[in-house]
Amino acid sequence: MASPPAVLLVCLGNICRSPLAEAALRHAAEAEGLDAEIDSAGTGDWHIGAPPDPRAQAVARANGLDIAHLRGRQVARADFDRFDHIVALDHENLRVLKSLRPAGSRARLSLLLDHVPGRAGEAVADPYFGDDTGFETTWADVTAGAAGLVATLRDR
Ligand code: 4NP
Repeated sequence: MASPPAVLLVCLGNICRSPLAEAALRHAAEAEGLDAEIDSAGTGDWHIGAPPDPRAQAVARANGLDIAHLRGRQVARADFDRFDHIVALDHENLRVLKSLRPAGSRARLSLLLDHVPGRAGEAVADPYFGDDTGFETTWADVTAGAAGLVATLRDR
């Protein structure tokens, strides 16, 4: 049997959007009985080793998921060998991933919302410098993205 698909979700800091997307995807995959390796990382290095932003932890908790144990890490070149799908939360992070990608990498790059019918090419907005309502929007977007990504992984 083929090994389970490995998916890396990538934002800028790895403390807001991608840990929420990681938790939402893990939850959606479990609910659908889909075995997958799921992780997240940031293109930036400011929050290496840090837990998710308290506002991200709060919106996850309000939706029944605990992300307090997650820790920030930066994308590494080895990720391009380890993961089948590397999924950016916005265009700037997708651009950085394309620039880091080693020649011959088998990882498929996409935007999270490319996996949602009717939302291809859209970004999940950065909520870091905004207020709590931004995190509600982030949660709605990553939940939709997670459902779409499960469908993509099933179809592979
Ligand atoms: P994230 O949000 O990329 O969704 O984790 C951010 C977190 C931190 C910063 C920017 C965005 N920052 O500038 O430190």
